[in-house]
Amino acid sequence: MLTQILKNFNSFDFQHDLLDWYYENKRDLPWRQSQDPYKVWVSEIMLQQTKVDTVIPYFYRFLEKFPTLYDLAEAEEQEVLKVWEGLGYYSRARNLQAAVKEVVESYDAKVPDTKEELGKLKGVGPYTRGAILSIAYNQPEPAVDGNVMRVFSRVLKLEDDISQAKTKKKMESIIREIISEKDPSSFNQAIMDLGATICTPKSPACLLCPVQEYCRAFADGVEEKLPIKKKTKKQKVIPYIVLQIKNKAGSYIIEKRPDSGLLANLWQFPMIHMKEVGLDGVVDYMRKEYGISIRVKDKQGSLNHVFSHLKWDLDIFEAETDVTELKDERLKLVSKEEIEEFPFPVSHQKMINFLE
Ligand code: ADE
Repeated sequence: MLTQILKNFNSFDFQHDLLDWYYENKRDLPWRQSQDPYKVWVSEIMLQQTKVDTVIPYFYRFLEKFPTLYDLAEAEEQEVLKVWEGLGYYSRARNLQAAVKEVVESYDAKVPDTKEELGKLKGVGPYTRGAILSIAYNQPEPAVDGNVMRVFSRVLKLEDDISQAKTKKKMESIIREIISEKDPSSFNQAIMDLGATICTPKSPACLLCPVQEYCRAFADGVEEKLPIKKKTKKQKVIPYIVLQIKNKAGSYIIEKRPDSGLLANLWQFPMIHMKEVGLDGVVDYMRKEYGISIRVKDKQGSLNHVFSHLKWDLDIFEAETDVTELKDERLKLVSKEEIEEFPFPVSHQKMINFLE
């Protein structure tokens, strides 16, 4: 299969033209200042599902706060989540910290340089493993994400569905054959840059492409039809009532989310399933679930938040309570100023603006 796909494909010339272009045109990105494996690791975790421009300020702030593996290993998880606040996919931050602790404890704080050891670390899948091994350790390992699959679907005119796991495996095998042995770090980063700046999802800039002469999709005029990606399932919509409950002293009730699942260990204003409880059932629900009695007041507004697989529709209500002490461990009473110290998901951060 591979021999068939790579028949008449001149990997050597392809590498040469790609690398020449990269050496001249590489993007000046903060994680490219060194090959420090810790920095490469942090950047690659942040760059999953997230654009370069969004990541840059987070990358600087993260390394300022946790300059070494030891600093991150020793930090409170809440501090780590606070620095990650707004970047989304918070399990990335929790897994990164867990994996860094493992590296400090089991590998004398040296990021492993073997597939086997790296692959065992929490949150380090084939993509991150390949990125660290190639970028930091110059090993000819593929690092295949959606952008890389787009580039190679086009260059090799592959019509496999890129949402399938087996397509990713196939791409990894192909890249093992094509990757530069001399400079695998630049090869992988060049493909990333090509995907971000030239071989874009819509209207690719083929006339500026350094590897246009190797591109089979371009030759056949089908670059905009590739890659093939079958539709994923429709997002599920979940409506919630959100309560901004204030007591007489002007403090608000916030709640810590469970320690696993979506937005684990972040903080929020209490949320209630609209479908299961309904607005009429809110007062009863709060008494039974949390042991507090409240009075629901005016609606403050609505928001929605889209995750990769679901959407929250949020109706936000003001509420009052006479409570001054809380028995439920999930809840805290805090002033408006103190709220800022807790890591909140973006949707709830926006609601802070609704507070009086
Ligand atoms: N996207 C994912 N990893 C990247 C990297 N190291 N440089 C630029 N873009 C990327």
